[in-house]
Amino acid sequence: MTKTAAIIGGGVIGGGWAARFLLNGWDVRISDPDPEAARKIGEVLANARRSLPALADVAMPPEGRLSFATSIAEAVAGADWVQESVPERLDIKHRVFAEIQAYARADAVIGSSTSGFKPSELQQGAARPGQIFVCHPFNPVYLLPLIEVVGSDVADPAIRQTCVDTLEKLGMKPLLVRKEIDAHIADRFLEAVWREALWLVKDGIATTEEIDDAIRFGFGLRWGQMGLFETYRIAGGEAGMKHFIAQFGPCLAWPWTKLTDVPELTDELVETLASQSDAQSGMHSIRELERIRDDNLVGMMRALKRNNWGAGALLVAQDRRMGRTAPAPGLVETQNRQVPQSWTDYNGHMNEAHYLEVFAAASDRFMEIIGADADYIAAGNSYFTAETHIRHIDEVHAGARVRVETQVLAGAGKKLHLFHSLFEGARLLATGEHLLLHVNLNSRATSEPLPDVVAKLADYAKAHATMPRPEGAGRAVGQKP
Ligand SMILES: NC(=O)c1ccc[n+]([C@@H]2O[C@H](COP(=O)([O-])OP(=O)(O)OC[C@H]3O[C@@H](n4cnc5c(N)ncnc54)[C@H](O)[C@@H]3O)[C@@H](O)[C@H]2O)c1
Repeated sequence: MTKTAAIIGGGVIGGGWAARFLLNGWDVRISDPDPEAARKIGEVLANARRSLPALADVAMPPEGRLSFATSIAEAVAGADWVQESVPERLDIKHRVFAEIQAYARADAVIGSSTSGFKPSELQQGAARPGQIFVCHPFNPVYLLPLIEVVGSDVADPAIRQTCVDTLEKLGMKPLLVRKEIDAHIADRFLEAVWREALWLVKDGIATTEEIDDAIRFGFGLRWGQMGLFETYRIAGGEAGMKHFIAQFGPCLAWPWTKLTDVPELTDELVETLASQSDAQSGMHSIRELERIRDDNLVGMMRALKRNNWGAGALLVAQDRRMGRTAPAPGLVETQNRQVPQSWTDYNGHMNEAHYLEVFAAASDRFMEIIGADADYIAAGNSYFTAETHIRHIDEVHAGARVRVETQVLAGAGKKLHLFHSLFEGARLLATGEHLLLHVNLNSRATSEPLPDVVAKLADYAKAHATMPRPEGAGRAVGQKP
């Protein structure tokens, strides 16, 4: 049954939560008194639709329904998850929790996006304190997977479990924080870095752009894939962490940092920060910057996905979870996905290399369907591609929802001859014809497939032989129909 999320406060963060739930198939009800809320959420959703599905190599579930409630009571009634994302003021949050708990299900997860408050502070005066958890996300919530989940001593264990399970199904990485502290884990670092950056500007040592360069050309790239400790372990060389600490530990006592002093945010400092930031980034609107950020994040996360590492390993697991439906007889759907921005070139079209990528993935999928899957390959058998012919028929743009239908032209003995057709809706975009040969991975020579694969392939080959041969099959390059 479709699940429902109530989003209380639909600003920057609430809008991101709404997108994460909707694009994962949940119905979403928003409660926000701002008359502009629908427009703002519409813009966040547009960004999310072009970026989140581009992380997946399978079809996302059909989008849920979005509605706007006229009260908190209407939004939360019967909802499975209630996410509070109102401004960071404890008095407002307390009022909102009282109203939520008066009308929400007692077993619903109530998450708070708070950046700084502890759960025990949020729970003060609550009817059912154990139901309220900190679920602290990172902007953009529809792309970044981390959620810091913090409960207090009275946390309800069943609701905590539902909370973690649900976040995982949404493709997120719940990090259970062991002890409640102000600002949880991640924002403690960010504040330390932010404080130092403010000093560097105030003392005239670096501009906002130079500080950003110091991050994005260097350690920022390391952090995104290995974090702090794994990076420093490598920095210690073969002797690892102990050597690293022996070498750099003493620096901590030197006056490298201003430690906990905070520069006063005088009008002059604020003016310096704002004008430097305008000079650095003022040529882009905020929405443009959001799209640039999202495209970069998608590209980086897809690179990590190839290495099955960090945030990319989560995407691999999420593709598996979103799963594959059993193939029906007839033509086989071997791909169903959205074209990511990073697959397009200077024309805004999908680059040639990615036609081969999508057809290669379709062949891999067909192999899986007939039982030539990861275990089969690990046991020393596989198919290798011997010949390929791709036809580019119509334009393919970023964000297009495409699917591949595959017909077996021949499937007997060592040969597997496939014809893939790439569609957006009913529009044929490209075709890919491939001849694959079965190989024994130990001898590296062609070989007969194992009996199970022979049998499954024979079923498809027989069924597909009764279908019309695709237009373009067997065509030489440049040959007209
Ligand atoms: N901005 C970030 O980067 C970030 C990151 C993580 C967490 N957070 C946390 O998320 C929460 C929201 O922050 P934001 O940046 O989205 O703020 P925001 O100002 O963009 O959005 C807050 C929204 O809450 C609405 N609102 C106010 N009172 C309300 C009420 N009584 N009922 C329903 N809606 C109400 C406002 O109209 C506004 O749309 C804060 O607790 C913040 O600490 C923010």
